[in-house]
Amino acid sequence: MGELGHLLENNRLWATRTEARQPGFFRALSTQQRPEYLWIGCSDSRVPANEIVGLAPGEVFVQRNVANLVVHSDLNCLAVLDFAVNVLGVRHVIVCGHYGCGGVQAALAPSEGRIVDHWIRHVRDIAKFYREEIEREPTPESQARKLCELNVAVQVVHVRESPVLQGAPHVKVHGWIYDLSDGLLRDLTPMVDSVRALEPGCKLPG
Ligand code: CO
Repeated sequence: MGELGHLLENNRLWATRTEARQPGFFRALSTQQRPEYLWIGCSDSRVPANEIVGLAPGEVFVQRNVANLVVHSDLNCLAVLDFAVNVLGVRHVIVCGHYGCGGVQAALAPSEGRIVDHWIRHVRDIAKFYREEIEREPTPESQARKLCELNVAVQVVHVRESPVLQGAPHVKVHGWIYDLSDGLLRDLTPMVDSVRALEPGCKLPG
């Protein structure tokens, strides 16, 4: 058995157990997928989309990147969004951030000159735009938490502003944040609305 043999063994056990619980599960999934949700989340290993919302394979389409960003020029994310909405027919897009996000924290620290700093630059722009609001928080920890929340809200706005969503007004876009310390999700919709108010130039459908 090779170096990663334990993972292949885990997979074999999982497939056997899943099929035993639900005979025909894999055969049915292999012919089609009809997920109701698109999840846009952070790459962080502690925030696995399916598990934290209790969804099985086939139930959520997933896009993950560092700091759960939706960048207007990111063809990867836009292609996922288009495919999910226009081909798979998802009804909900969930942008999910998390407290303790390394990508967000990095945006509040000096650049280390790594490739990832180019990506994090998008979060730095948000930190600059909402500087006063962030600096009202009393501690570095609460400032980072605030930026995690604002980042989710801004990404929700980006999804809603995208041409894909403007052509699909029936699709709902949600902003959530996950707390690593208790495993719970919180809905940030009220904050998303306040971000809309702070960006008066932003025209949103619906
Ligand atoms: Co993260």
